[in-house]
Amino acid sequence: MTETLAQSTHSGSPRTPSKRTILMCRPDYFTVSYQINPWMHPEKPTDTALAVKQWNDLYRTYLDLGFTVDLIDPIDGLPDMVYAANGGFVLDNMAYGAKFTFPERQPEGPAYMEWFGANGYEVHVPKETNEGEGDFLLVGDVILAGTGFRSDSDSHREVADIFGRDVITLELVNPSFYHLDTAIAVLDPSPAPGEQANIAYLPSAFNESGLAVLRERYPDAILVSDEDAAVLGLNSYSDGYNVVIASRAKGFEQQLRERGYNPIGVDLSELLLGGGGVKCCTLELRR
Ligand code: ARG
Repeated sequence: MTETLAQSTHSGSPRTPSKRTILMCRPDYFTVSYQINPWMHPEKPTDTALAVKQWNDLYRTYLDLGFTVDLIDPIDGLPDMVYAANGGFVLDNMAYGAKFTFPERQPEGPAYMEWFGANGYEVHVPKETNEGEGDFLLVGDVILAGTGFRSDSDSHREVADIFGRDVITLELVNPSFYHLDTAIAVLDPSPAPGEQANIAYLPSAFNESGLAVLRERYPDAILVSDEDAAVLGLNSYSDGYNVVIASRAKGFEQQLRERGYNPIGVDLSELLLGGGGVKCCTLELRR
């Protein structure tokens, strides 16, 4: 895998991959049996074996990139548990648990907190409704926080108190992009000191005040098309050089190449039926 380990240059400075540690959940019980987002159609059949195969491709991709991948056991009757990003938000060895909006997913909160506790993280039981890294994205030193459909903005204050970081509230306005990680991709998870972490985003997913914040903070951001966002192209995971994306997001793939990143496409079409993609299946663990 020399290609993926290589560094590339963009306007002089190198893109440097960093080793990541993540948590995933095998989709052994994946199906679509209820509807809590516009992507889900319970009347349409799903293929659990195909979901497992596609998930496995993502898992292997991460292992090939040299990531450490921890696994949490899936639970029968919790079909959305595969979307591990919603299981919490982990930073500085502290795990802020999830408190899900819809009753169908609520048992996932304690299941993930139990895993965090058993694996040496300091667990913070949430008071406020929040869906973990689906709505909290660490970009450099700040935490971008989504609200509007799932996480309550009160959880943004709770996160600021626990982690002692600046938390910037962004309101989502399009129900198809109901979690922040469907509308923003973090491209540089561990920027070098003095380097600005960059993002990619879908402008139409935000209201005017959110857009103003994004434009001001990230003048060099990649603006992704509605077409690429519609295959959850933004729901991607970067190590600073390699960016694992939906293979169908061709325009975004090209934009990433032009900026010196190495896009790696995977097909998660079956998991898209639940309204999730690459990033949804990936929870970053930061000691
Ligand atoms: N069916 C799940 C839900 O609606 C999908 C979650 C996608 N996760 C994410 N991080 N965007 O909650």
